[in-house]
Amino acid sequence: MHIHAYEKIWLAASILLILLLIGSVTYGAVGPGVAMVSDSEPPIDAQALDEDDRFSEPRVEQVGDNEYAAYVVAYQFGFEPSPIVVPENSTVTFYVTSRDVIHGFEVAGTNANTMVVPGEVSKITVKTDDRQEYGLICNEYCGAGHHVMEGKVNVVSQAEFDERNSGGDDA
Ligand code: CUA
Repeated sequence: MHIHAYEKIWLAASILLILLLIGSVTYGAVGPGVAMVSDSEPPIDAQALDEDDRFSEPRVEQVGDNEYAAYVVAYQFGFEPSPIVVPENSTVTFYVTSRDVIHGFEVAGTNANTMVVPGEVSKITVKTDDRQEYGLICNEYCGAGHHVMEGKVNVVSQAEFDERNSGGDDA
């Protein structure tokens, strides 16, 4: 059978496209720096967050030199703590989980954005810049109050952060 030269070219091009598609899907799943929700964090019992060290008291705490961890619980319909207060020019890792259904966690106007799945802990690390107040939004439909589900991330000065985390109202 004779195959026309153009036909051969098209055949080769379409096989190449198929290989590129498979390659890009594979890269998206296992490529460097590409992580699925909870890839690095063990599962958690969404019904028992009250007994969890990190999430029974959602909070921000210092974990290293200029490094902070923010433990955040999403629920119908809000985020705890709210506002989430972090110091400027620091590295903050958010650990976010849900006590009920799937939510989103997006720091508005930034690329800090993850899905929040009950039973899993989503982890994202960001570098904060100067003092600013950010909105926090849920971008997964989570029920009747989805559109009013919001929080705040307040990036404050180091002095203000330290003041909030010391003193009398700490108990
Ligand atoms: Cu939570 Cu939408």
